[in-house]
Amino acid sequence: MRLRRPTPPSPQQQGTTGSSGHPTDPAALIQVRDLRKSFATLDATITAADGISLDVPAGGVTALAGPSGSGKSTLLHLIGALDAPDAGTIIVAGVEVTALRGNALAGYRRRVGFVFQRFNLLPTLTVLDNVTAPVLPFKTSFEPKQRATELLASVGLQGRENTLATRLSGGQQQRVAIARALINTPAVVLADEPTGNLDSSTGADIIALLFDLRERHGTTLLIATHDPDLAARCDTVVRMRDGKIT
Ligand SMILES: Nc1ncnc2c1ncn2[C@@H]1O[C@H](COP(=O)(O)OP(=O)(O)O)[C@@H](O)[C@H]1O
Ligand SMILES: [Mg+2]
Repeated sequence: MRLRRPTPPSPQQQGTTGSSGHPTDPAALIQVRDLRKSFATLDATITAADGISLDVPAGGVTALAGPSGSGKSTLLHLIGALDAPDAGTIIVAGVEVTALRGNALAGYRRRVGFVFQRFNLLPTLTVLDNVTAPVLPFKTSFEPKQRATELLASVGLQGRENTLATRLSGGQQQRVAIARALINTPAVVLADEPTGNLDSSTGADIIALLFDLRERHGTTLLIATHDPDLAARCDTVVRMRDGKIT
């Protein structure tokens, strides 16, 4: 399919209907339209995103709920540009992510914070080096080690900077992953079942930390979760089933 040119929201669009037939909300930081993604396996083609349209408001906390296999991770990966859709558009802060290529795409990936269920830390690196890893090859307007140290303090890991990441508990590893996700001060944090591998009290700490991002920095959060307690605390709950929003 041909991709549309970026269309930054304008006041005139308020209350109108987009070209895809879905209402266009200019307050939405993330606008997903008619997104499709299939995976070919040996015996079947699985449609993981089956025409998804979604608006995520700026500064809001949105839960993505739904049973395992409903397409939550696929949608987050597409929004974070960790994977490319077969069709459809994703616009984030007025930029059509699905039209980006090369350096512009790599730059977008670095500006989105991603938190994974399994933490995905680099096991041979220290806590500090895991947090600076995303910016290490690049010029930054800040001093990476200093910023990483401040972020680690803000997630309660002061003094653990030089510990190997794998020496930490699950909850501590997820705190490192959150600090890593924040190194570039992202406007958007995508979290894929961030409490899925944690016990409930540790999970509650991680949830508090994520909500604190919104309070302190106005960060827009999109959180895939199975956890009804977490979903209930979010501003909006978007439910998925079989690659569709229900
Ligand atoms: N890389 C892949 N290859 C094949 N199938 C995949 C791949 N990624 C996801 N799927 C399939 O797509 C569907 C949606 O998966 P996923 O997005 O991981 O759902 P959820 O995160 O809600 O559990 C599932 O049927 C899953 O098996
Ligand atoms: Mg998943």
